[in-house]
Parts: sequence; structure tokens; C-alpha cells
Amino acid sequence: MSSAITIPRPPGRTDVISERRDVDSFYHLSGCSLVGRACQGTACFVARHRNRQLWAEAVAQEPRVYCLGECFAAPSIYDENGDARPHMEVRSRHSVVLSRLTNGDVRSLQAYTAQGGYTVLEEALAKPSEKVIEAIETSGLRGRGGAGFPTGRKWRAVAQQPAGEKFIIANADEGDPGAYIDRFLLEDDPHALLEGMLLAAYAIGARKGRIYLRNEYPRAEDILRNAIAEAGSAGLLGKRVLGRDFVFDVDLVVGRGSYVCGEETALIRSIEGRRPHVMARPPFPTEHGLFGKPTLVNNVETLVSVPWIVARGGEAYRALGFSQSRGTKVVSLNSLFVRPGLYEIEFGMPVRQIVEDLGGGLRDRTIGGLIIGGPLAGVIPPHRFDTPFGFEELHNIGASVGHGGIVAFDEHTSIPELVHHVFSFGAYESCGECTPCRIGSRRIEEIFGRIVGLGTTSAKDFVELQQIVAALKMTSLCGHGGGLGEFADSVLCYYGDALEPCFA
Ligand SMILES: Cc1cc2nc3c(=O)[nH]c(=O)nc-3n(C[C@H](O)[C@H](O)[C@H](O)COP(=O)(O)O)c2cc1C
Ligand code: SF4
Repeated sequence: MSSAITIPRPPGRTDVISERRDVDSFYHLSGCSLVGRACQGTACFVARHRNRQLWAEAVAQEPRVYCLGECFAAPSIYDENGDARPHMEVRSRHSVVLSRLTNGDVRSLQAYTAQGGYTVLEEALAKPSEKVIEAIETSGLRGRGGAGFPTGRKWRAVAQQPAGEKFIIANADEGDPGAYIDRFLLEDDPHALLEGMLLAAYAIGARKGRIYLRNEYPRAEDILRNAIAEAGSAGLLGKRVLGRDFVFDVDLVVGRGSYVCGEETALIRSIEGRRPHVMARPPFPTEHGLFGKPTLVNNVETLVSVPWIVARGGEAYRALGFSQSRGTKVVSLNSLFVRPGLYEIEFGMPVRQIVEDLGGGLRDRTIGGLIIGGPLAGVIPPHRFDTPFGFEELHNIGASVGHGGIVAFDEHTSIPELVHHVFSFGAYESCGECTPCRIGSRRIEEIFGRIVGLGTTSAKDFVELQQIVAALKMTSLCGHGGGLGEFADSVLCYYGDALEPCFA
């Protein structure tokens, strides 16, 4: 006779092991060394003609590595002892982010304080925390992690939650192939991130912070651990920060190879040790975040901008930039440019100026277009280069500021191969929660794989492509699926002539 009740039992050893396997299997690089791994990112894809053999190795290897943050020297392979640093230049009236780095790194606490580091924190702690939030609200700063959400509004939302345990997370997952901004902020200016986190924590009432770092940046891991230890010894972290009644500690959490873990809900699950798929919102992390507590998630560059804003005031920051895009943004240019590197610009600079004046155009080829803000945004052709670099302005032409990665491709780049590359990345990195992203992106990868191999495919495939793109845009739970749809849309819009003959 079956019983009407079920007695809850504690998980047995087998349950715990299978749960751990379930979590581990999500990540691509669990327990994998990066040594000798070739990069399969978008900057390496567009530069593959420079080293065909390396590219062949990259696409053959499993697990794949999608971006090592070496786009300025692509195609690239992980080198344990490599210490290449990109060219860095400030092209704005004031430098908010890069000025300390243009003459070398400021890794040590001594180097950072010699340049005035942590004085803003000391001054801010002497005033009410409200002043810090007000400065960020006035500044018009918008998140640099991709979505461009107003930072002050997010901080206010966490600050308004009832007093109690709150967290702040620095998102150092920088997964967008083509972007290497955060990598060099982390490696060369780690105390600026810690100072930004301390100011944010003071403003919102958080006592604990986490830095979630992708494991494709191992050098940043050592540097951050050292910076955290230095700050702790100097009384900048811990029970009484700078002798004040303010407690704050930071832990470093290292990812295991998953692009989608950069998405904030997946990132939070990853830190909690759970299978890191994306969660529906609401509730937003600002109310129900890490371990169910109110949590502020901000990108590295967003947080690094904070000390400058608090020191000089929100109005000074607001005076930079244009329209709804205030302040400065660091953009990263890939190796096909004559002058690849990191450039701090003011919003509003025309894309053409970035390409021609900063980057110097392409080295020995004619430009075919740009992938701005990561592959999950949009591709723009040369006739759109007069568009100003701004959130709304790029969005209006089907592109995005995204993370600030700018990958130029030349006129010989095959558009079907580019679409195949992006959807192969998209399918590989999908968390699997939504059907169009899990299955649809794989279908599009197959369709374009056929075109790359045979030159054409059926007209029926074009109908299916359009249906999948519509579903990706309408039903995706996060920007991964939605961004794939937008990428496909922009390619169809601007490079339709190259694609039409492929669907016979
Ligand atoms: C698939 C996906 C990947 C993301 N990856 C990153 C990332 O690597 N770094 C980042 O800062 N934000 C990333 N984001 C955005 C985060 O979800 C979040 O909006 C951001 O960290 C918030 O910080 P911000 O307001 O300072 O931009 C990603 C979003 C999506 C949908
Ligand atoms: S769109 Fe893709 S990555 Fe995002 S939640 Fe859905 S399946 Fe996961």
C-alpha cells in the first residue's frame, strides 16, 4: 500500500555528488590549463589570415577559449610568461579612467597613493553617504557592462532596501570577444577598482564585496589578490576602514569559463556555487541578489570611474560626453588597425574619428565594417561611420556601445563565415534556458556551416533563419539570445547583398 505522505530526507552522498557534477558540467574550463591554448575570439577570427595554422588549432581545440583579452595582438595564443600591454591613450578633455596608466601600471598601493589614490575615500567617509549617491546620480554615469543602466538609480535602489546584510559585486567577467578594457584596468590599476567598490559600499550600506573574475585572465588574479592583501594591511579594508565606523571586506571569486556567467543573475548563482543559468527578473538583484540579499552588481569600468566622480563632483563628469551618454568610455581596437589599443574618448565622438584618427584605419586592407560592443550587438558598415559613439545613437543604427570592444574586419572577410563564427560562439555559450537560444542558435550555425562549406543552401533555410531570429528577439530571457537576434538583423540589413545568393 502506498503512503499518503513523503518524509523529507537530507540529501544523500549520491545526490550531493550528482549536484556537483551538474554544476561542474556547466563550465567549459573546469580544471583546464590555459597554457598553449589558441584564442577563438572574434578579433582572432578576423585576423586569421595572419596565421592560418594558429586559427586551425583554435577551432580544433576543446574546450574552446573565446577571448584571452589579447585582441590588440590577434591572432593570439595563451602565453604564461607573456606581458604584452596595449597602447593606451587619452582622447578626452579629462581622463577619468586611463590617465594613471598611460605611463605604466600603478599596481602597488604605494604607486596608487603616490598618484592621490584613496584620498577621495578618506574625504567621502567624513561626509554622509548620501553625498556619494548624489554625485553618482548627478553625473549621469551609465553602466559600462553592456546594458547602460543609470548607475545612480541602481545604487539608490539598493540603498533604499531595509538595513541589513547587503553585497556589492564587481563584474570582472569581461566575456565579450573583442573587449580587453577591464583586463588592463584590473591588471594595471587594481586599487582604483577597490576604491570604487569601497565608495559604492559606503553609499549603499554594504559590508561585503566580491570580485567575480573570469579565469581567462590569470595574471589579474594574482594582482588582485595582492592588492586586496595590501589594502587589508593598510587599514583600507576590514573592521574599521581608515579608522572609521565602516566595515568592508572583499573576496575574489574566479570563474571557470562561461560567457553567460557575466550576466548578473547567472553570476550570482555561480558565486553561490549553484548551476549558473540565467534567472527571470523580477526580482532584481537590487532586492534579491547574492544569498537572497540586496546586491549591487557593477562592471569594473563603471566602478573605476567612481573615485573621479566623487572627487570632482557629478557636474564635472556630466560636462563630458553628449546627449544621454555622459562622461568618457574606454574603447578597445583590434589588431587589424594601424594603431590598435585602448583609447579613452568622450561620448559623441563620431565612429569615423575612432576608426581613422585614433586607429589610423586598417594596416594593409580596406575596412569592410565594424563589430561594436561585442558580437551580440550589431555590425556596422562604413557608410554608417558618421554616427556619434553614444548609447541611443548606436542603438538606432542596430549596434550598441556594449562593452566598448571595436573589432574591424576587412573587405575580404566572408560574411557567411562571420555569421557562422558568431552563432557558433552563441550556441556554445548558451545557458540552455530558452529554446530559441539553445536550439535555434545551433540551427543557424548549421545553416551557415552549410553555406561556408557548399556555397549555398535552400531558400527554405532563409525562412527558418528569419523565424529563429524573430523568436530570439522576442522570447530570450537575457541579452545573449536577444543580442544574437540583433546581430543577425544588422547583418541582414547591411550585408544582405552578400547573403542573398547563398539562399538559392
Ligand atoms: C550574456 C551576458 C553577458 C554579460 N557579460 C558581462 C560581463 O562580462 N561584464 C559585465 O560587466 N557585464 C556583463 N553583462 C551585463 C551584466 O548582466 C550587468 O548588467 C552588469 O554587470 C551591470 O553592471 P553595470 O551597470 O555597471 O554595467 C552581461 C550580460 C549578458 C546578458
Ligand atoms: S537567452 Fe540564451 S543565454 Fe540567455 S537565458 Fe536564454 S538560453 Fe540562457
